[in-house]
Amino acid sequence: MTNTKNIFPGLIAHCKEYGFIFPSSEIYEGLQAVYDYGQMGSELKKNIRDHWWKNMTQLHDNIVGIDAAIFMHPTTWKASGHIDNFNDPMIDNKDSKKRYRVDHLIEGFADEQLAAGHEELAKEVLKCMDALLAKDDFTGLKKLIDDNKIKCAISGTCNWTDIRQFNLMFSTEFGSIAATGETDNKVYLRPETAQGIFVNFLNVQKSGRMKIPFGIAQVGKAFRNEIVARQFIFRMREFEQMEMQFFIRPGTQKEWYEYWKAERLKWHLELGIPGNKYRYHDHVKLAHYADAACDIEYEFPFGFKEVEGIHSRTDFDLTQHQEYSKKKMQYFDNDIDVSTGKPFGNYIPYVIETSIGLDRMFLLVMSHAYEEQDLGTPDKPDSRVVLKLPAKLAPIKLAILPLTKKDGLPEIATKIMDACRADFRCFYEEKDSIGKRYRRMDALGTPFCVTIDHQTKEDDTVTIRYRDTMLQERIPITKIRDIVTKEIS
Ligand code: GAP
Repeated sequence: MTNTKNIFPGLIAHCKEYGFIFPSSEIYEGLQAVYDYGQMGSELKKNIRDHWWKNMTQLHDNIVGIDAAIFMHPTTWKASGHIDNFNDPMIDNKDSKKRYRVDHLIEGFADEQLAAGHEELAKEVLKCMDALLAKDDFTGLKKLIDDNKIKCAISGTCNWTDIRQFNLMFSTEFGSIAATGETDNKVYLRPETAQGIFVNFLNVQKSGRMKIPFGIAQVGKAFRNEIVARQFIFRMREFEQMEMQFFIRPGTQKEWYEYWKAERLKWHLELGIPGNKYRYHDHVKLAHYADAACDIEYEFPFGFKEVEGIHSRTDFDLTQHQEYSKKKMQYFDNDIDVSTGKPFGNYIPYVIETSIGLDRMFLLVMSHAYEEQDLGTPDKPDSRVVLKLPAKLAPIKLAILPLTKKDGLPEIATKIMDACRADFRCFYEEKDSIGKRYRRMDALGTPFCVTIDHQTKEDDTVTIRYRDTMLQERIPITKIRDIVTKEIS
């Protein structure tokens, strides 16, 4: 097993070769930080999305899902604070004209120091950066970059501008544009899905007769004009979020924040990924809407990085929308407050948010699953690339492989395919040697292969091969569906 070496370049190449991810509009040299999911990738992504959606909505009585539009009234973003506050401190290199997000530039430097064995320096620089970011101390951050002689990756120089704030939202025009080219119809591509939930809070609460505490979940596209987009699909300009806003009584936010921190980590671990690959990271600099926040970080091939955020968003968003829309965002709570003996009455709920990037979760799942294995002996070299995907997420669950194209074997294989395809995704393949077909299925992450051979005609048994162990056993055809269904449910 070679997962200790840097698997990242191999993983990226694998994603393209096997139809998981392609650079967007590749024939035109691509578009930076935008990617397309191929025939295998879209299936895996859908399975991750469904797995999250089912966990949130089907398995929680008090959480429902919505699907709000990407375009929203522009005042939404004024109210939410994104127009004024959704900025990142940026710095330009005067020689290469390349613009960097300051925290990414410094983190990149720290990663290099770590790789070179200078752990103390890396930690010191990151600690210093966190403290300076928390104070919005741009002079201090510039000094940190200068003192450490942090270079531009393109020009190799330290010739930096001052640090300035840039807004990350994309905008476009709605409706017709005047002949002068001028418009006051500016709309934004949402930078988070959360606001579609907040503006619908009362619609859902009233139409669904929801009682606090309750949650609203949503999956959808979000857009951010990330200046430095790095690490494949880790930081994209167009990506998908899976977010849930949990509406609670004011004063209960600490306990619900802890609850959702634990609950979300549990969801990750239930996929069979070991706990030591995860850690929490408390935010030092809180977003403009939060009174507590942390990230769930995963150890990607390039280090521990955020995959999900848990945010205690107070009543900030609903209060802001109430103020800007002049519509009441209150909830009437008729439960009895034991301290007063009266109903809790009217209030604007507090909110705990869980927010995970679908693409980032995709990268996590692939990083964990991808293995380059050396199976050879000194006189007989052999190797394979296998994706040890959790069976419930795998794009194909069962490969059905007749040993030869004749003697009635394809007919039996087709019957098996017809019996199983309504329950889970099957794949039929009769080309190439059986060994080659197994290897291809390993590379796609298919957990089970069944081979139909001449013995099948005599006793209605097939050989089932398990992807991870490569073990094979003989089983009756009638058992195939049960074995696969048990693993994926
Ligand atoms: N509604 C809160 C919110 O959007 P965030 O921490 O900015 O919070 C939540 O984003 C999650 O969305 C992140 O943990 C990450 O998984 C994902 N995400 C954010 N920016 C991303 C980007 N540029 N590319 C891919 N995923 C991103």
